[in-house]
Amino acid sequence: MANLSAYQSLLVPIDDFLLCQTPTAWLIEASKPSNLPMLLIDHMICELKAAQTAAWLIRKYAVDEQSATVLLAWLAPYENFIYRKEGSLADLAQQQQTISKKLTLRKHCLYGEDLVDKMVMLIKEELHHFYQVLEIMTQRQIHYQSISAGRYAKGLMGQVRTHEPAMLIDKLICGAYIEARSCERFARLSPYVDDDLAQFYISLLRSEARHYQDYLKLAQQISADDICERVAIIGHTEAELIQLPDTEFRFHSGLPA
Ligand SMILES: [Fe+2]
Ligand SMILES: [Fe+2]
Repeated sequence: MANLSAYQSLLVPIDDFLLCQTPTAWLIEASKPSNLPMLLIDHMICELKAAQTAAWLIRKYAVDEQSATVLLAWLAPYENFIYRKEGSLADLAQQQQTISKKLTLRKHCLYGEDLVDKMVMLIKEELHHFYQVLEIMTQRQIHYQSISAGRYAKGLMGQVRTHEPAMLIDKLICGAYIEARSCERFARLSPYVDDDLAQFYISLLRSEARHYQDYLKLAQQISADDICERVAIIGHTEAELIQLPDTEFRFHSGLPA
């Protein structure tokens, strides 16, 4: 039996940050064998989206043009797999070796080094998680197929203000909620799935818990005001998306309708 108890302390700040826990009805839905392909495919896509969001943030706010091109090249093989069904697990295994930390900040960069350091680390980890999910799918002969996006990320982004630096701050807070919810779901799901999958979910907790903290710290560093009010507003929306009935089952879906 995978040991979740060693990680309980990681979950204390996350449970405090999230305004609701994942409903038991969602956990039961997620543990149905018929939903396993959807759970894994959507999880793999979430890992890519997390990497894409972080890459977009450093391209938009921090690095020079040449580094922006480097970043796009890191993601391309994973995007080709998801959007064009090109490449294989073996290709991606090689690809992971090519990602290095050396990006150059643009001149007069407002929110430089810390943003880049944290986001590069996050991109590397998310792409590795992508690879790990694909490896598990391959072992279980679950084939990748395109799926539609759930309502969750779009629902959160609806709260993002449209002027700067408010837009950046809100996007970072949304990032913190997505990471925190993912971490909470991996932990809560682990007793509901087989031991191999539980082991994998538990292995993800430490990095996802750090990703949530990194996003939140960056948001506060960049904001001149206390971010509490924005955290409360976005947190309220997040909890609604989790608690209200949802007709589609996804990794971040709401109460099964
Ligand atoms: Fe991840
Ligand atoms: Fe993450």
